[in-house]
Amino acid sequence: MSYTVLARRYRSTAFEGVIGQEPIAQTLKNAIKSGRIAHAYLFSGTRGVGKTSMARIYARALNAPATIPDCPVPPGEHEYPPEDVQQRMATAIMAGDDLNVIEIDGASNRSVEDARQLIGNASLAPTGNARFKIYIIDEVHMLTKEAFNTLLKTMEEPPAHVKFILCTTEPHKVLATIQSRCQRFDFRNLPSARIAEHLTNVLKQEKIEAQADAIWQVARLGNGSMRDALSLMDRLIATGKFPLSAKILEEMLGLPPVEQVVGLVEAMAAGDIGKTLTQTAALIDGGIAVEQFFDVLIERLRVLMLVAACGKDSELVELADDARDLAATQAQSFDAAGIVHMIALCENVQRTCKLSSNPRALLDAAMVRLALAEKMADVSAVLQGGGQAGFGAQKKN
Ligand SMILES: Nc1ncnc2c1ncn2[C@@H]1O[C@H](COP(=O)(O)OP(=O)(O)O)[C@@H](O)[C@H]1O
Ligand SMILES: [Mg+2]
Repeated sequence: MSYTVLARRYRSTAFEGVIGQEPIAQTLKNAIKSGRIAHAYLFSGTRGVGKTSMARIYARALNAPATIPDCPVPPGEHEYPPEDVQQRMATAIMAGDDLNVIEIDGASNRSVEDARQLIGNASLAPTGNARFKIYIIDEVHMLTKEAFNTLLKTMEEPPAHVKFILCTTEPHKVLATIQSRCQRFDFRNLPSARIAEHLTNVLKQEKIEAQADAIWQVARLGNGSMRDALSLMDRLIATGKFPLSAKILEEMLGLPPVEQVVGLVEAMAAGDIGKTLTQTAALIDGGIAVEQFFDVLIERLRVLMLVAACGKDSELVELADDARDLAATQAQSFDAAGIVHMIALCENVQRTCKLSSNPRALLDAAMVRLALAEKMADVSAVLQGGGQAGFGAQKKN
């Protein structure tokens, strides 16, 4: 049997299931209830945040309202088909193959001609006693000019039974003439905590064991996109190593082990130059480039800065509980202002390293400087290659 990816198997089928987009779901439901259903909508947002899912659910609510519990029925004169027929429609809509809910991919060139034809057919009434003919056009900004023109023409005077839901990751590329005919909804990037929560549920249903660390790391790497996080989880599951752990993920992606990074910062905080250099060497020997080394260190410092500034329970801190506690302990050695300077120093040296014939030496020197932060000269002076002025607030005693 072929494997269906998690992102497809776990597509939301009801308004409530579209995580993180509750305000949009609420507005759409209200629109149905009050009968103020727009002719055209523009859904914008990063990939994998629920635009297509929401579009299908909205289409389902319009054409098969009986299949959604507590969903208001669009007012107006229309006799909806019996419930079993609506149920069949709903299944087809959610699978993307209902005849009256037409999905067009603006990005794939081949279908642009089709798109033109399909949109051209908008004036024909919906089939099978369906109420609306709904066009879901994905990546609408990629449509060819001819397709756009056809779309515009139809959108100017749409037949009463036609609705458009345009989706895009790049709203600024959608013609102003199209935008002005749409009601626009901006889908937000999903917070890691919500992604982690969903991943946990999915894994539970899949009966797959995973450590919280691994789940949080996958959630964070999703960068606000649920689909990206689910795809990464697919890859992690494909390793066949259970329970899934941060270590397996790090190996898979060639990321440095978190403990090593944590250990490095600990050595720096303790002002232990020897250990700082040993930990630095361990990370580099593990195979990461100097540039990535700084990326990783900066990210860790950022986490500590967030903990120092906002407290460990802040939702800005995207870590599993254990890792959160550990970060809180580590953050006690620093204050937020000090970390700002450390990040600035790292960033600066990272840039210099790109031009240097001996980046490793610059890296080691920077690490010694950070370990010596307390005794160190003002960072801005150091950055200019200058003197020993009195900056000493990076680490707390
Ligand atoms: N907000 C969300 N809540 C739950 N799952 C989501 C969400 N956004 C995306 N997904 C997951 O990602 C997959 C693709 O989502 P989709 O709606 O096609 O995103 P988009 O159209 O924004 O690229 C869905 O099948 C679902 O598994
Ligand atoms: Mg989509």
